[in-house]
Amino acid sequence: MNVNDNLLSYAERMTFSLRGLYSSYGYQPYRMSKFEDYDLYSRNKDFLISDQVITFTDIGGRLKALKPDVTLSIIKNHTDGTTRKLFYNENVYRVDKGTGSYKELMQAGVECIGDVDSAIVGESLYLAAQSLGLISENFVLDVSSLDILDAALERVTDSRSLQDELVKCVSEKNVHGIISLCEENGIDTLNADALISLTALYGKPDMVMEKLFDVCEELDCIEAADELKDALSLPALSELKDKIRIDFSVVSDRGYYNGVIFKGFINGVPDSVLSGGRYDKLMQRMKRRSKAVGFAVYLDKLERMDVLYTEDEIPRDTMLNIALPKGRLGEKVYAMFEAAGFPCPSIREPNRKLIFENREAGVRYFWVKPSDVAIYVERGAADIGVAGKDILLEYEPEVYELLDLDIGKCRMAVAAPEGFCDDTRRTLRVATKFSKIAAAHYASKGRDIDIVHLNGSIEIAPILGLTDVIVDIVETGATLKENHLGVVETIVPISARLIANKSSYKFKGDSIMKITEELRTNM
Ligand code: PRP
Repeated sequence: MNVNDNLLSYAERMTFSLRGLYSSYGYQPYRMSKFEDYDLYSRNKDFLISDQVITFTDIGGRLKALKPDVTLSIIKNHTDGTTRKLFYNENVYRVDKGTGSYKELMQAGVECIGDVDSAIVGESLYLAAQSLGLISENFVLDVSSLDILDAALERVTDSRSLQDELVKCVSEKNVHGIISLCEENGIDTLNADALISLTALYGKPDMVMEKLFDVCEELDCIEAADELKDALSLPALSELKDKIRIDFSVVSDRGYYNGVIFKGFINGVPDSVLSGGRYDKLMQRMKRRSKAVGFAVYLDKLERMDVLYTEDEIPRDTMLNIALPKGRLGEKVYAMFEAAGFPCPSIREPNRKLIFENREAGVRYFWVKPSDVAIYVERGAADIGVAGKDILLEYEPEVYELLDLDIGKCRMAVAAPEGFCDDTRRTLRVATKFSKIAAAHYASKGRDIDIVHLNGSIEIAPILGLTDVIVDIVETGATLKENHLGVVETIVPISARLIANKSSYKFKGDSIMKITEELRTNM
């Protein structure tokens, strides 16, 4: 049968190439049904990217689900005592973060279950790198070790919830966040030295391995460092060393994964396109003695690859795209970039242009609505940008938070009319632009609330009897005062943060790190 290549989408063509790659390394194709018992997902909710699953009742009355994940089904059908190397192409059904509705996503993946040692982990890394290489030679494979991260977290605290908050900071390369969490929790920041070193560590294995071993020696987890080093020492990987980075911002759920984990990025695609690692802990939770490693390629994220890469050309935009928040804060931010050595004089000319560039300095600035900066950066339209911590907490974009710029300082607070007293017999009515922050705040106190989401002039809600309190930004306190409201409690201090797109960091890392360092030293 002749297949006309032009009729196939990029993802479909890539599927064939990946199948060829995996079978040439002795991996067997694995086919499965689109349906699975819902019970499998309800028992392993945290393993799933989202806990929302499409369910239905089959003709026998059993509750079934359209698969949101493939790995769990493969493990369910695994019998201990055998080692199996499998690959699959399956569609999974997940909620899309942007639209909030279900999407059918095409995935290709590889799993090795059974007797897994560092050579097999190395092979998995090699196949992951080869998969990325089939998509584009312009890729980076980030590799981390959860066992090393665990050791560093335990040095700071044994509180699981605080560890989770620290992991979030590590995943954002957010060193200032780690320091603040230590201070807030009365922990000597010296105990977080190793965690901070790991968060800041980034580079090719040969460049950072010595430093990593120093940190691991101090943490008494040399075995974990050896496992990572051994996996990376697979001879076949040596030709790909230039594309591999040690990066602890790669994190996965610590209840399921352990040891070496990794993520793959393609230049021009704003998000990671491959994710994987060792998941012996998931095997244990599913009552299997076997060990396992595997990864998935997110083919849906490659939809625009043929537009992006015409005739194997790499995207040529080497300028750093910077999203600035329009308004008074943005002017202060631009002044900081200018002082740090990245000027763009045309930005100060009186006109209504929104995009400005200085080719010599390698920077292109654009003004966007302050609340949109995070979206531009998360989606890769901007490589870096400056956003308020309020926006980052509310929208939780997948970005790195590189620096607290110490400007735009204010606080997120609960405010109420003078003399307010909370009547805990009733649901508290809260007006806010920051529904997620307000919901999380009251959930942590176990207080039942009703949120009224407003887009501005929040202060008038309690005055008109629409709500009892507001959750809003307080800077000088003048707006509250003039409306006879007062702060009841502070939720979190806010300031402007330098954020970066995760993929841009891999391909424009030198300029992003340079600008970050210059901004830090000029603060
Ligand atoms: C913000 C916030 C408060 C005010 C607080 O509003 O929502 O209303 O600033 O500042 P203050 O403590 O210095 O008085 P913004 O100016 O963004 O307008 P908005 O009401 O349309 O949200």
